[in-house]
Amino acid sequence: MTRQVLLNPGPVTLTDRVRAALARGDWCHREPEFAALIQDINRRLVQVHPGMAPRYRAVTLAGSGTAAVEAMLATFAPDAGATLVIANGVYGERMARMLDAHNKPRRLARHAWTAAVDVAAVARQLEADPAITHLAVVHHETTTGRLNDLATLGALCRERQVTLLLDAVSSFGAEAIDADAWNLGALAGTANKCLHGVAGLSFVLAREDLWSGPACRAGALYLDLRGYHDTQHKDGFSPFTLPVQVAFALQEALAEHAEEGGSDARRRIYAGRAARIAGTLRTAGIETLLAPGDYSSVLWSWQLPPGQGYASLHDALKADGFVIYAGQGDLGAQIFRIAHMGDIRPDDLDRLCAALSRHFGSSP
Ligand SMILES: Cc1ncc(COP(=O)(O)O)c(C=O)c1O
Repeated sequence: MTRQVLLNPGPVTLTDRVRAALARGDWCHREPEFAALIQDINRRLVQVHPGMAPRYRAVTLAGSGTAAVEAMLATFAPDAGATLVIANGVYGERMARMLDAHNKPRRLARHAWTAAVDVAAVARQLEADPAITHLAVVHHETTTGRLNDLATLGALCRERQVTLLLDAVSSFGAEAIDADAWNLGALAGTANKCLHGVAGLSFVLAREDLWSGPACRAGALYLDLRGYHDTQHKDGFSPFTLPVQVAFALQEALAEHAEEGGSDARRRIYAGRAARIAGTLRTAGIETLLAPGDYSSVLWSWQLPPGQGYASLHDALKADGFVIYAGQGDLGAQIFRIAHMGDIRPDDLDRLCAALSRHFGSSP
């Protein structure tokens, strides 16, 4: 049977080691060994990006990346004051919808999905509107593959003492995060993207002063992270049931991530895959949606050639063992996306490049 390799932006193709961890056994989530496992995961999570461990504490919750982002906003976006949401894709716009659902005051700096964040306009908005105390932005906007310019936005947050709330769902574990320089209050991430775990657990890392500071109205029960923090950082237990086997896989994935050299090493591996695929697609005359320098290492978006629909490309590559991803919204008719996460082996890349060349009628 042909090996199937996932090139969608999570869930990813698991390594054998992580897949084996899923079968570690049947544990009760109310037993001390599971509490210790969650505490170990939380300790490992703050070590994924250098410099975070001393000042940030993680909590782990059941749910996909959206659950973690919504929990972060529900718990830490203020009722008094306002959050400025920056959007240049699906996930930035989703954060604005979450704040509306939780009745939290927000402003929106909406950009075209193909546009870079207009940092000068954001600076002007912060200057003109002193009610804004928090800024919510997506690190890697998976809609297009753009890595937003957090160095500049983060410096702005730090200079103006605005608290940064970061959707790091598709960047955590691979792209660089400089928590101090960005005045990072909290970030949300998930097990099943750059960490190479299994879908079902997600997490929020927040700075100590956010955990210990005055609580704002969460407007939710399940998504109020203070309950998780108070129990997971006391005895390791959680207010609600966590998926035990998914936690086994996440612990193993975090160990593997650290042993392989951490986030910098993972970013380099993804960048190598991106370059190899880009070489093949460019030779075949396929062009990127964004300027190449705007992309993350994690995912790139490619323009469908004239007359080529997404479905036939998807189906042909799937028959060859590769699952690619469609564009969202209006981009659905224009692009396809290839992510570089997960257990993609050198011979998988060779097969993929041969399949792409075959499909687009060029030599690999
Ligand atoms: C940047 C970003 N934020 C949030 C999400 C939502 O995550 P999920 O689909 O796991 O709920 C995604 C999913 O791809 C994402 O890429």
